[in-house]
Amino acid sequence: MNERPILVTGATGKLGQLVVERLVALGQPVRVFTRRPGAAGALFGKTVQIAAGDFGDRTSLETAVRGVGRLLLLSPISARLVMDQVAAADAAVAANAARIVKISGSDWTIAPAGNSISGAAHAAVERHLESLPIDTISLRPNAWMQVSLANTISHAITNNQVIAANLDAGIGYIDARDIADVAVHQLLADRIRGGTLNLTGPDVVSFRQIAAQLAAALKRSVAALEKPPRIVPQDGDFEHRAVAQFISLIAAGRAATTTDVVWTQLGRSPRTVAAFILEQVAPAAADPEYQP
Ligand SMILES: NC(=O)c1ccc[n+]([C@@H]2O[C@H](COP(=O)([O-])OP(=O)(O)OC[C@H]3O[C@@H](n4cnc5c(N)ncnc54)[C@H](OP(=O)(O)O)[C@@H]3O)[C@@H](O)[C@H]2O)c1
Repeated sequence: MNERPILVTGATGKLGQLVVERLVALGQPVRVFTRRPGAAGALFGKTVQIAAGDFGDRTSLETAVRGVGRLLLLSPISARLVMDQVAAADAAVAANAARIVKISGSDWTIAPAGNSISGAAHAAVERHLESLPIDTISLRPNAWMQVSLANTISHAITNNQVIAANLDAGIGYIDARDIADVAVHQLLADRIRGGTLNLTGPDVVSFRQIAAQLAAALKRSVAALEKPPRIVPQDGDFEHRAVAQFISLIAAGRAATTTDVVWTQLGRSPRTVAAFILEQVAPAAADPEYQP
């Protein structure tokens, strides 16, 4: 067991929570960095140390990293992503942390350069991490089942429709629980190789196939409809422009990739879209009145 706590940023978010739960279950000392200590307390109780703070508040970051051995670096897509993550990484190095594991953007948002403002921001942080004198690794997960696929599923449960810009575009969706498992593995391993890891699910599934799987699981028809993506103005906010770029890249088939990284890291297959769909529709399949 590590003596020094592992600091998790983004701990109250969708992926961070999964990472914290796993580290706590393994008996690791964990400190979480949050603007909402009350929310963190409600989520994790007394199982973690809570460092209240904000990436933009240098003093709170310096306090949070004090005595920390390793850092799980995660922050939301925003115009501040580079500034916030570089500040957290530099604070960790100054506090003699030994390792940083970063949750980066999907590989297809980062390479080739120039397609995605979010990918460019993550790439800038990855380059900074590689220049640091400690162990660092950046995990590049493909689209998460718990985000875009979960939205598609809940829309289908409510409206009996799957809508996409290109129904035949495939995605190598990954389950966030697998991302968390790999992140924990990288945080706790004796040695890591550094660089980047491109994480995907086991197979590429198109929106048309998702509609068919949903229809089978819900035992009713689910229409598959093509609709052009909404145009987001160039002066729109960072997150909306980033998401619009993701939708275009996905429609162009860029997310249709799989790798064997989860298998290589964990010695087991990643979770499937089919299993995720069954899990998500179970309440609706049991009760036709159910609304997500
Ligand atoms: N969704 C996908 O398909 C996908 C794919 C690849 C990569 N990613 C990457 O995953 C990341 C998002 O992860 P997520 O969805 O788990 O995040 P999330 O659920 O949106 O949670 C955001 C977290 O960041 C914390 N946070 C936000 N602003 C902060 C600030 N100023 N100071 C301190 N903490 C702050 C929040 O904590 P408090 O509110 O408690 O302070 C919260 O825990 C992004 O970097 C994205 O690029 C996502």
